[in-house]
Amino acid sequence: MDRNLAMELVRVTETAALAAAGYMGRGDKNAADQAAVDGMRRAFSGLSIKGTVVIGEGELDEAPMLYIGEEVGCGDPRAVEVDIAVDPLEGTNLIAKGLPNAISVVAIAPKGCLLHAPDTYMLKLAVGPKAKGVIDIKAPIKDNLSKVAEALNKNLEDLTVIVQDRPRHDAFIQEIREAGARIKLFSDGDVAAAIATGFEETGVDVMLGIGGAPEGVIAAVALKCMGGDMQAILNPMSPEEFERCRELGFASEEEIYRVLTLEDLVKGEDCYFAATGITQGDLLKSVVYKGNNMAETHSVVMRGKTGTIRFVQAMHRLNKTDVLEEVLKLHPQR
Ligand code: FBP
Repeated sequence: MDRNLAMELVRVTETAALAAAGYMGRGDKNAADQAAVDGMRRAFSGLSIKGTVVIGEGELDEAPMLYIGEEVGCGDPRAVEVDIAVDPLEGTNLIAKGLPNAISVVAIAPKGCLLHAPDTYMLKLAVGPKAKGVIDIKAPIKDNLSKVAEALNKNLEDLTVIVQDRPRHDAFIQEIREAGARIKLFSDGDVAAAIATGFEETGVDVMLGIGGAPEGVIAAVALKCMGGDMQAILNPMSPEEFERCRELGFASEEEIYRVLTLEDLVKGEDCYFAATGITQGDLLKSVVYKGNNMAETHSVVMRGKTGTIRFVQAMHRLNKTDVLEEVLKLHPQR
């Protein structure tokens, strides 16, 4: 895939973030999500790709845009064929309440290279580049933490594990505490939590927990680009979720509960990831309205093949870009 795609991709998350940010703290997560979807959908039309959404906003009957199977891109039949994973607004509760770490994310890889994950829960274990190759999601938590600590040349007591604050994680939290490591709880947004393991300045070493499987694939692309590591196991919790697994080819219990390596989640290294901060985050700053129809965004864009990671700080003139103007007319929340 063309290296310039990385820079093109960031426009997609920037537009979604700019569209959604006006809803911060307004208590309406669905409206914020719709704005992000509208922004992202329109921005895709400027991208020189022939993309198919494989991780998206749901099936066609439940999502009018960015549904699984939707084709997006500039409409040129000769453009490169790619699979796309999107989460226009990752952390819908976060934006509704104005809490940190709401982001807009997109990941792409050549056709057939992203796991078509069912919309179910998934157990995830993620670490940054220094701990690549030492994790084993089937091993006891204490063993994993000891190995990661050794790989990072840290005392186990200095290791920080980020865990989503959910009752389903109570046993994990107890095990982490017994092992002696520190814990950072977060309310929502496990893509940002997984990415944090790849950046030492966040102080986060390990992400562990059960969250959405679609979010797992998106996080995996970022970890691939960063040289980090991740393992996962699908964790369906209802008959409907088991059915969704079967529909996507996870036919037997053995298939459902097999360990998914980083390579299973995203094949090869020809992949790109982009994220833009919506609310203030550990890694990315929020959208900031500057007055005079100006707004600033902070994004990160990564390329798997080269491992290049760019932080992009952009100033947008909201009344001078056709796509933005159009989306902000639909969502005039500022
Ligand atoms: P949304 O943006 O769809 O609200 O997802 C936020 C999120 O926290 C994800 O990051 C995570 O994977 C999932 O929800 C966890 O699900 P639950 O809220 O059911 O525990």
